[in-house]
Amino acid sequence: MARGLPQKAKLRGVDKVVAVSSAKGGVGKSTLSVNLAIAMAMQGKRVGILDADIFGPSVPKLLDLAGEPELTDRNLLRPLSNYGVKAMSMGFLLPDEGAPVVWRGLMVMKALQQLLHEVEWGGLDVLVLDMPPGTGDVQLTITQQVVVDGAVIVSTPQDVALLDAVKGTNMFRKVGVPILGMVENMSMYVCSNCGHEEHVFGRDNVQREAGRLGLDVLGSVPLHAAISRLSDSGQPAVLADRAAGFAQVYRDIAAAVLARL
Ligand SMILES: Nc1ncnc2c1ncn2[C@@H]1O[C@H](COP(=O)(O)OP(=O)(O)O)[C@@H](O)[C@H]1O
Ligand SMILES: [Mg+2]
Repeated sequence: MARGLPQKAKLRGVDKVVAVSSAKGGVGKSTLSVNLAIAMAMQGKRVGILDADIFGPSVPKLLDLAGEPELTDRNLLRPLSNYGVKAMSMGFLLPDEGAPVVWRGLMVMKALQQLLHEVEWGGLDVLVLDMPPGTGDVQLTITQQVVVDGAVIVSTPQDVALLDAVKGTNMFRKVGVPILGMVENMSMYVCSNCGHEEHVFGRDNVQREAGRLGLDVLGSVPLHAAISRLSDSGQPAVLADRAAGFAQVYRDIAAAVLARL
């Protein structure tokens, strides 16, 4: 068991760490991570986001951030910051955007160590960890080396995604990380013209699976063209369209996460 391994450390200057995870890629982890982080910051918290997706970092684009982090006096990486949130990502350490990360084994683990242990967060209430997809070495390393206070499992309503949500849940349980709940993403399609709602991938699938796993559903984010469009242009949806229904959903999920930490 990983629980109690000697190297498990509390991150310097960080009060609580929340991992946003799903074993499957493309279900909306990064989008949720960024919008949750900003919603928490809007609620007065000091928030950071750590993009732990070494092979497919997307936080720089989502937060409209670029450039190389400076080093502090103590040779730590200083996070970049936008929209009231501090951020660190492999994307800032790579030579140019879009360059493939061809490192293997040790190199990847070394980069991950730097991201996990050598960032000067400078006092945070919450650090949101945008986890990479999968339940392999990288995920295990993170959960074994860092005290993660809670995990949020993201899933879309399709069966293939739910299967992976179960895998992710089992992984966190195995390493003793409490699961705060599930978030259903792309729960239904909302037509931006007429507002018609359609449950494209089925209704209540996530609720049913969460029930089986003994987890609560913290919220359901609709599949909305504006979320994707705004994200692609580096504008987090929760900030760019505060009056939208989905913005309220993100705020409610953020409040639920904070309450459970
Ligand atoms: N609720 C949503 N509505 C519309 N598009 C979404 C929604 N959530 C995520 N997306 C889009 O889906 C794609 C994958 O999302 P992303 O957050 O990168 O997933 P992951 O981090 O799990 O790989 C992105 O293009 C994103 O803009
Ligand atoms: Mg991602």
